[in-house]
Amino acid sequence: MKKDNVNVLSFTLCPALLSLTAIFLPLCESFNYSQALSQSFLYFESQRSGHLPYNQRVTWRHHSALTDGLEQGVDLVGGYYDAGDNVKFGLPMAFTITLLSWAVIEYGQQIDTAGEYAHALEAIKWGTDYFIKAHTQPNVLWVEVGDGDTDHYCWQRPEDMTTSRRAFKVDADNPGSDVAGETAAALAAASMVFRRTNPHYSQLLLHHAQQLFEFGDKYKGKYDESVGVAKGYYASVSGYKDELLWAAIWLYKATLKDKYLNYFLEKAHDFGGTTWAITEFSWDVKYAGIQAIASMFSMEEKKHEVVLKQYRSQAEHYLCACLNLNNVSNVERTPGGLLYTRQWNNMQYVATASFLLTLYSDHLLATHQKLLCQKGVVGPHEMFAFAKSQVDYILGSNPMGMSYLVGYGPNFPQRVHHRGASIESLKENKGFIGCTQGYDNWYGRVEPNPNVLIGALVGGPDIKDQFKDERPNYIQTEACTYNTAALVGVFARLHQSQAHTYHNETPLIASI
Ligand SMILES: *[C@@H]1O[C@H](CO)[C@@H](O)[C@H](O)[C@H]1NC(C)=O
Ligand SMILES: *[C@@H]1O[C@H](CO)[C@@H](O)[C@H](O)[C@H]1NC(C)=O
Repeated sequence: MKKDNVNVLSFTLCPALLSLTAIFLPLCESFNYSQALSQSFLYFESQRSGHLPYNQRVTWRHHSALTDGLEQGVDLVGGYYDAGDNVKFGLPMAFTITLLSWAVIEYGQQIDTAGEYAHALEAIKWGTDYFIKAHTQPNVLWVEVGDGDTDHYCWQRPEDMTTSRRAFKVDADNPGSDVAGETAAALAAASMVFRRTNPHYSQLLLHHAQQLFEFGDKYKGKYDESVGVAKGYYASVSGYKDELLWAAIWLYKATLKDKYLNYFLEKAHDFGGTTWAITEFSWDVKYAGIQAIASMFSMEEKKHEVVLKQYRSQAEHYLCACLNLNNVSNVERTPGGLLYTRQWNNMQYVATASFLLTLYSDHLLATHQKLLCQKGVVGPHEMFAFAKSQVDYILGSNPMGMSYLVGYGPNFPQRVHHRGASIESLKENKGFIGCTQGYDNWYGRVEPNPNVLIGALVGGPDIKDQFKDERPNYIQTEACTYNTAALVGVFARLHQSQAHTYHNETPLIASI
């Protein structure tokens, strides 16, 4: 279909958004969500650690960290760097894989239609292959390689790394129920993804997931008390109870075994699942995700109804907070309409909120329900329109006219806080670049990064929609794997709704 028609159709949808959001006019631009989706998967290739495969598309990266685990006699080669440094942090890595798997479970069809299904599976498997290696015994999980302090002392390409690659584990004497729970959730969710295409692998993932959950549940403790080096970077502030509920619900989804459901229902109160109303969903705090899953269950068994309703009321509190429809405790917004949780890497919360809102809007649509908030009633189309407004802000409908998804559109951050991207690639510059040499010659440059970190979602603007594209400004210009991971499903779903519009079918975003 011709582009003109596309634009006309997109414009007709825009007024629908005005009712709910403080709207910025360029919102009525039409975005290419399929392109954003494709770019997302390139980002995961940029973050790969280990031996890169022949079909690696991001060619400014090369093999790195090929002796990870060697000091401890374990093979920990692979996995992902979390953000702009070269540390492998298990907790956010696992959350990233849970999010990616969830996106494929819910929107696999749409990802496939956009031609990205194989890339999605590769992105997940790069993580799950690593978790299998890292889970060396039923009660042993390696949860970090490298450490933030020594790593941050240097500014080096991962390919040149000279920093400590010491690995850290949790076990029965040094427990880590949060990281074990999150890794169990990731493996359980991924087992659902691979069930059809790779049943043997799926079974293997499930086996590890079940063992990790048992380990986390039996030996309770916060991983950052066992692995002190994680504390300054990915401290488990919310504790491990949310991750144990999260693991249980994912294991129930993957196995339909009553024991996991019963755990989830019996611990609901004591573990905070039905008592904590929280307005963020992140690598640390899983409650909103747990509550959302619980409230989307189609429960034949009425005996669970009471607890599930309690879960649902907390999920609704979260969703209404994002929609600014609670009497009190809503998520703040910038003047440009972006959800605002906190200064440092705010986009992670925007991305996870957009994902949960999108999922829930489809749930409302399928079950012919509306969301009842204290300040109003919201239908599925309106809820989805709000999620779209957040994604459109990310892609360029914002006061800075900037796409916060790197590589998308004409104007995006040029100085992403990222070691590999900010230094000439090994392909261009074969010389070794040392620890402080990177700081001296590359970090402080005002020029754009030599390598574009396509598909990365950076931390984003401040509460006044302002953004400084400067490399040392890590609060705004650093990207993390879990930022982009939360958007994958939303991009796919938006692409589908756009495709419907293109073909002149009833738009999924109808007028409100
Ligand atoms: C969206 O981007 C993809 C490239 O990623 C391109 O093939 C496609 O034609 C674009 N769609 C529109 C409507 O411009
Ligand atoms: C919310 O505010 C409305 C209007 O002020 C009031 O009628 C309602 O009772 C409040 N709901 C709660 C749960 O406080």
